Amino acid sequence: MDYVPTKPLVIGHRGASGYRPEHTLESYRLAIRLGADYIEPDLVATRDGVLIARHENEISQTTDVAAHPEFAGRRTTKIIGGAEVSGWFTEDFTLDELRALRATERLPGVRRQNTIFDGRFTVPTFQEILDLASAEERRLGRPIGVYPETKHPSYFASIGLALEEPLVRTLYRNGFADRNDHILIQSFEPSSLLKMHEMTEIRLIHLFEEPPTDLEAIATYAYGIGPDKNLLVADPRMVHRAHEAGLAVHAWTIRAENQFLPAGYRIGAEPGQRGDVTAEYEFFLDMGVDGFFTDHPDTAVAAVNAVRRHRVPASVG
Ligand code: G3P
Ligand code: CA
Repeated sequence: MDYVPTKPLVIGHRGASGYRPEHTLESYRLAIRLGADYIEPDLVATRDGVLIARHENEISQTTDVAAHPEFAGRRTTKIIGGAEVSGWFTEDFTLDELRALRATERLPGVRRQNTIFDGRFTVPTFQEILDLASAEERRLGRPIGVYPETKHPSYFASIGLALEEPLVRTLYRNGFADRNDHILIQSFEPSSLLKMHEMTEIRLIHLFEEPPTDLEAIATYAYGIGPDKNLLVADPRMVHRAHEAGLAVHAWTIRAENQFLPAGYRIGAEPGQRGDVTAEYEFFLDMGVDGFFTDHPDTAVAAVNAVRRHRVPASVG
């Protein structure tokens, strides 16, 4: 399929995770309020097969599970994606049990202000996130897209909790089944994407942390690629080549604090202080990227709007 340029998308990475504990309804709600076009839940499964939003299936970094004595015996060690991981795992809890937990800030050192929300928000299900997007869409009168990612899909399939079927089924039940819907499904694992390519026409994004090789082959099943932003810095022609292959390009992840910015965009020496994140957006907009995953959606909206004022308008996608 030919590449069609659209307004660059602002994707609220784990919601507005620069301002609220990630993957909570409050984080997604704020991302929408700040103007994000899409909100991004990473998805894992519970023991009873319910999709919930967490970046990892190990949840001690982003919930208060360690403070629950009733779950102390669930602490264990597993091999996930080839690495030994110790802690508490979503697949060992039913949804009812997980309801007892509360979210915590992943980066308390850099985002100390977010810790005031620790213990206040629950871990949402994918259905609750779709409900939120739909309610906000009606309230605001603009499309609110949802951009789910299958996390550790091979691992979950290996323990009998494959993510793809419940993901596609949940989307279908909510009325999402084709490429025109404001849904994008992402994964790092090609096998997960190929499985979903057989199941749905919803657009797929292949994520990369290493350079993608055969863009034409990727274009046979994916709408676009999601490269680590550093890959684009190392290979500025990648965006053009992807467009030539008919693929959109969504870069990850832009964060406003110095710690996450290239040296030239930092302001001062404090890792948690805001740097010149606008300059980083402008760099990637000039390159022609079609969207950003960002922890600070308001900063991306401002940068996209400022650049668009100086350019010929493209269609909105
Ligand atoms: O999904 C895009 C980006 O979020 C990939 O990185 O690790 O934050 O899920 P991660
Ligand atoms: Ca993600």
